[in-house]
Amino acid sequence: MGAGRRQRLHRLIAVVNAEKGESLKILVTGGAGFIGSHIVDALIAAGHEVRVLDALVAQVHGSRDSESTRPPYLHTDAELVQGDICDAALIEQALEGVEAVFHQAAEVGVGQSMYEITRYVDANTRGTAILLQALIRRRRHIRKLVVASSMSIYGEGACECRQCGPVAPPLRSAEQLGAHEWEVRCPGCGREVRPSPTRETKPLFPGSVYAITKQDQEQLSLVLGRAYGIPTIALRYWNVYGARQALSNPYTGVCAIFSARLLNGQPPLIFEDGCQLRDFVHIRDIVQANLLALESPDANYHAINIGSGEVINIRQVAQMLAEGLGRSIAPIFPGKSREGDIRRCIPDLTRARSVLGYKPQVTLAQGIPELLDWVRSQTARDSVETATAELAARQLVR
Ligand code: UD1
Repeated sequence: MGAGRRQRLHRLIAVVNAEKGESLKILVTGGAGFIGSHIVDALIAAGHEVRVLDALVAQVHGSRDSESTRPPYLHTDAELVQGDICDAALIEQALEGVEAVFHQAAEVGVGQSMYEITRYVDANTRGTAILLQALIRRRRHIRKLVVASSMSIYGEGACECRQCGPVAPPLRSAEQLGAHEWEVRCPGCGREVRPSPTRETKPLFPGSVYAITKQDQEQLSLVLGRAYGIPTIALRYWNVYGARQALSNPYTGVCAIFSARLLNGQPPLIFEDGCQLRDFVHIRDIVQANLLALESPDANYHAINIGSGEVINIRQVAQMLAEGLGRSIAPIFPGKSREGDIRRCIPDLTRARSVLGYKPQVTLAQGIPELLDWVRSQTARDSVETATAELAARQLVR
């Protein structure tokens, strides 16, 4: 049977199962966070029973009193186990009766990871190791493990050089950035290169502690999943945006940071010249990819790019957000750069389409107004200047 027919058949089986009401017991680590909580909603809507393991870290969730630890948006049907992913006894308890796991728990600040090294390695690498150790013991009951990986593990995205053809450049040097030469150069001939879609086969050059730990999470999961027959899939997310991003967390993604600045009447602060290119993928498409991963045997043991296929630079992001919020506040360009940042990385989505049947649905023109509707209903503490000063004091922004 051809791959296409096999895939259609598997999808049909999944639909029949859903109609039969087959319900799995599923653990979502980091399930009270931005991405995790949306996955939880979708799993419950699909008829599954969901348990969430989440440390509710103050940087993301704010400090709460003991009565109100549960985030208000967390689905009321989700069981919440509050605690640390490195707590092996708690993991055992959280895995009781579980048949599938979505591992979303992670510390996510690229800049912060460069000085809070043990915190990032503990939560992301060691936390994943502890989870896997427990999963291996229960492997006969586990039908699927889906791990949140990240495009940050590629370092600079794939490029095309007019002279040398396809190249995979390393991160730009401190000297180059110090001279404000922002564009990526060919490692062969030194000419400026153009970005091309990055495939999963591109060599990995993680440029931050965060990225190293994401690579660890992905590879530990795929290698051990294969060795022990736990069907495992790593989804390499591009820049995710949407409601529930932690607006007051200065180490979160740029859409949330700029929105919080604008809400507080402050100009977005743009690193480099703002021509860094990213692919912003809406949370609903991330959820789509995760649910497809649960149902797609052809995707097992693969790492798969998940983006929107729409590329935009950071200047345009600032402009769209300011316009959408009705604030005529121009961004500022201090001419600084952030250690470990990449210039451009855009996804090749061929594998996502072929093994998952993934098709991005939400364009920026639809997703940004939706994000802003939610942003307007929030109050955000803007601590970006303090966070940037912390990075600058360590020479990590210069
Ligand atoms: C982000 C995520 C990372 C995720 C990856 C892929 C965060 C903190 N990082 O990394 O977890 O794995 O996408 O999905 O969520 N910028 C400014 N001014 C600011 C902040 C950022 O100009 O105040 C620029 C940065 O220099 C960078 C771009 O915006 O060029 C995007 O930055 P950021 O949102 O931090 O995302 P990534 O580093 O791409």
